[in-house]
Amino acid sequence: MRNIEIIQKLNTMHTACESELLQLITTYNEKDFEYLRKCARDTADRIFGNKIYIRGLIEFSSICKNDCYYCGLRRSNSNAVRYRLTKDEILSCCQNGHELGFRTFVLQGGEDGFFTDDVMCDIVSEIKNRFPDCAVTLSLGERSYESYQRLFDSGADRYLLRHETADKKHYSMLHPPEMSLENRMQCLYNLKRIGYQTGAGFMVGSPFQTPEMLVKDLKFIEKLSPEMCGIGPFVPHKDTKFKNEKHGDVSLVLMLLSIIRLLKPNILLPATTALGTVDPLGREKGILHGANVVMPNLSPVKHRKDYSLYDNKICTGDEAAQCIGCLADRMKKIGYEIVTDRGDYTENYD
Ligand code: SAM
Ligand code: SF4
Ligand code: FES
Repeated sequence: MRNIEIIQKLNTMHTACESELLQLITTYNEKDFEYLRKCARDTADRIFGNKIYIRGLIEFSSICKNDCYYCGLRRSNSNAVRYRLTKDEILSCCQNGHELGFRTFVLQGGEDGFFTDDVMCDIVSEIKNRFPDCAVTLSLGERSYESYQRLFDSGADRYLLRHETADKKHYSMLHPPEMSLENRMQCLYNLKRIGYQTGAGFMVGSPFQTPEMLVKDLKFIEKLSPEMCGIGPFVPHKDTKFKNEKHGDVSLVLMLLSIIRLLKPNILLPATTALGTVDPLGREKGILHGANVVMPNLSPVKHRKDYSLYDNKICTGDEAAQCIGCLADRMKKIGYEIVTDRGDYTENYD
């Protein structure tokens, strides 16, 4: 099959077999790339129009018990500055965000033992009480089924947990032995079963990654069928053993965004901060390749630089209002509009 035919198959049947995906991502030329982009963007336009959903990111803890080899927050990084926001600080980020038009708050942090189920459930239910028109997304890593259930019962709507890589051997090259791909995937199936709108995802260009591994990632997304998928380039961090590695390739990220849009037309797909970090127009390009979500930062400016996952992260010095204004302008310039909406996943758009 020619690449154009593989793209047509993705566009009409929303699937492709492993060998077709491998061929596409290893042999595409400029024409294929543009055709794929156009199919992906047309699909997103048909479903979401020119509307882009916004999520207010609240990075509430830089403390983590894990030691993922790629991440600046890993526990063994003694140079990392650690902080955790209080409940009141989190609520005031939400208040600020609500006034700016956010209707989804994403609480993201390291796996910080301070945030037990009791503490977290109290925070989530207070946010839902005060802002009943808002969705709460959690991104706190791996927890037990019971813990996910309690958080869901206290009002959390969505959960982001990137699988990072769907290849077992690759997973073990990026994580210490106490972490496993099996558990990561089990967590994702548990989240879906409980009823969360669930987000998986992976880094593009992480050390040791091969095109075959990316095909596994795509097939995993097809199988799990998450409501959201976060993909962005790997970006090195100076205090990790991957400090001298190159960051992920922008074209490859864009290509994969387009493929995911065609595999899962309704999926909520962010143009990530990491993409904006490696390319000044990365988020705009992400949207033009089929993404439909952006995630401006709502964290208090005094802590922004300390949530340092990778080097040169953008938006670390700007107030939330500046960030949202900047993104609104950026989207407008390419013909899109950010909207005040929860932006839930739905199977049926009219
Ligand atoms: N601790 C939670 C977890 O791991 O799911 C949530 C926070 S974690 C910092 C969020 C995401 O950041 C991870 O899923 C990972 O994909 C991404 N990340 C970490 N280090 C990165 C790096 N060096 N380059 C790009 N993305 C990175
Ligand atoms: Fe912790 Fe998440 Fe970073 Fe891993 S990626 S070290 S779990 S913050
Ligand atoms: Fe954050 Fe431009 S989007 S300052």
